[in-house]
Amino acid sequence: MMKGVCFLVTVALLALASSLASASDPSPLQDICVAISDLKDGVFVNGKFCKDLKLASADDFFYYGLHIPGNITNPVGSMVTPVNVEQIPGLNTLGISMVRIDYAPYGQNPPHTHPRATEILVVLEGTLLVGFVTSNNENRLISKVLYKGDVFVFPIGLIHFQFNVGKTNAVAFAGLSSQNPGVITIANAVFGSDPPIDPDVLTRAFQLDEDVVKDLQSRFWWDNN
Ligand SMILES: *[C@@H]1O[C@H](CO)[C@@H](O)[C@H](O)[C@H]1NC(C)=O
Repeated sequence: MMKGVCFLVTVALLALASSLASASDPSPLQDICVAISDLKDGVFVNGKFCKDLKLASADDFFYYGLHIPGNITNPVGSMVTPVNVEQIPGLNTLGISMVRIDYAPYGQNPPHTHPRATEILVVLEGTLLVGFVTSNNENRLISKVLYKGDVFVFPIGLIHFQFNVGKTNAVAFAGLSSQNPGVITIANAVFGSDPPIDPDVLTRAFQLDEDVVKDLQSRFWWDNN
């Protein structure tokens, strides 16, 4: 009997371990796999087309311009400059990318999630109130004020935000555990979907008057990404 229980526990742990192992982009099965759209110069590796190794060059692994501040003159007062597989095709299959984020005074990177990546953020300038919320049942806010040099982690899939609580511009850089992390900005997705979600759904879900929901749905939801 005990032996049977031990076996079941072992199977459960192995299943958990294997699901954890596949929680981010798969490990690369080759040295490099530069993404291309024209198959003429491609070879078939690991289910994806990769540029012929002989044709890969330093520029496939290079991006210029992350010292340039993003334009923060917009409704949310922040701008994300992404450097992922779209900007660096050599990131293909490598499971990593980065961003620069600029914030105006009291600007914010509004509540959003990355469906495919954990994020680790470092503040270079300014003071940021940051936080993330754990999933339902608890919905606990884990939050902190960050200063220059501070580092904070936003776990994969969880809703998180950064708010510049200082009187000067702020700058942060972040690494993300996916070549293509994805972004879902909560307000934009819920109130700015195309076509709109039936207002009756949002009225009840958010415990709002229908007029408020229709007003929110009529607004323009700025995307800072
Ligand atoms: C920044 O964005 C604003 C609003 O879209 C625009 O008016 C302005 O010209 C932009 N500034 C720069 C430096 O591109």
